[in-house]
Amino acid sequence: MFPERGAGEEEVLSELRRKTAEDLTFDSGRILGSMCTYPHPFAIKIITEFIDRNLGDPGLHVGSRKVEEEAIEMLSSLLGLERGYGHIVSGGTEANILAVRAFRNLADVEKPELILPKSAHFSFIKAGEMLGVKLVWAELNEDYTVNVRDVEEKITDNTIGIVGIAGTTGLGVVDDIPALSDVALDYGLPLHVDAAFGGFVIPFAKGLGYELPDFDFRLKGVKSITIDPHKMGMVPIPAGGIIFREKKYIDAISVLAPYLAGGRIWQATITGTRPGANALAVWAMIKHLGFEGYKEIVRKAMELSRWFAGELKKIPGVYLIREPVLNIVSFGTENLERVEEELKRRGWGISAHRGYIRIVLMPHVRKEHLEEFLRDLREIMKG
Ligand SMILES: Cc1ncc(COP(=O)(O)O)c(C=O)c1O
Repeated sequence: MFPERGAGEEEVLSELRRKTAEDLTFDSGRILGSMCTYPHPFAIKIITEFIDRNLGDPGLHVGSRKVEEEAIEMLSSLLGLERGYGHIVSGGTEANILAVRAFRNLADVEKPELILPKSAHFSFIKAGEMLGVKLVWAELNEDYTVNVRDVEEKITDNTIGIVGIAGTTGLGVVDDIPALSDVALDYGLPLHVDAAFGGFVIPFAKGLGYELPDFDFRLKGVKSITIDPHKMGMVPIPAGGIIFREKKYIDAISVLAPYLAGGRIWQATITGTRPGANALAVWAMIKHLGFEGYKEIVRKAMELSRWFAGELKKIPGVYLIREPVLNIVSFGTENLERVEEELKRRGWGISAHRGYIRIVLMPHVRKEHLEEFLRDLREIMKG
């Protein structure tokens, strides 16, 4: 019921605290199956200071718009492109939808089809449905990367583009993007890389010496990339990123917004009013941490993943789905349903809906949390 009279701040706040007491929090270390994390304190500071900025009306917030452009420029350069075109958006879902929308609008075919790996995120299902694009699912290889030959065989006159994934949601697998890029170039099709998760991991992991395939704009077939600062970028939700190689992709999805207080603009994002503070936080975190700072975050996460995978392998009845590629470790067990239920009952934020339990070694996950988790898992497996 909508209250007749307002209550004091203290009263409202304590009610809210009571109501959310059952939430799992990132800083508790109990959330092991999420790609989000507790944001960096500096990013929180930025959000608080610039909370009123609206990038949906950039004519009012001209400075913020320039900062967003600089954030896109820095992300582009991380991804091997001198000048990219894009936006800080609400997340990987919006970024993927924008890419599919751009490909569809530029393709001009009557019955558009998009070829994507069976491991692709469900955001593409939303994109397909909203945009009237048929999804053509490509088979996976034994190592869970997409089968590039199957992708090629599925190309028709209706194909508007191809999707590759750099860090799959379930297993953190990186597709053979160089091979996909070659296929895309051969057939004159655009390749979208969903690096929503991997974008803030792979460049730094490569810098640390991990052997990972190229996945970004250095490959000429890659025309757009999703890269989410609200995953491994340490920026508060919502902060996704979409970057296009050329301006024509942005132009193809831009709509005239005629009545804004700051003046007419062409708007490419799905959301109209959108948080400027989060875009500023992306800029600020990149400036604050730099390549070396992110590399250190990724180093810890990658090392912890390898250690954790090794510990899992020692538990009877537990097996890895595959060796970790990024900082995601997925494992199966005997009696998976019972194990999942019992882990959840003990307060662990995990799920096994794909037929395995997926642990994402986000920056809030520390070794002591994992040791506790492993103790619980060992006990459950014995019982
Ligand atoms: C590979 C990939 N793409 C896209 C998304 C969607 O991102 P969001 O939840 O920020 O919309 C996710 C989310 O986990 C993802 O893992």
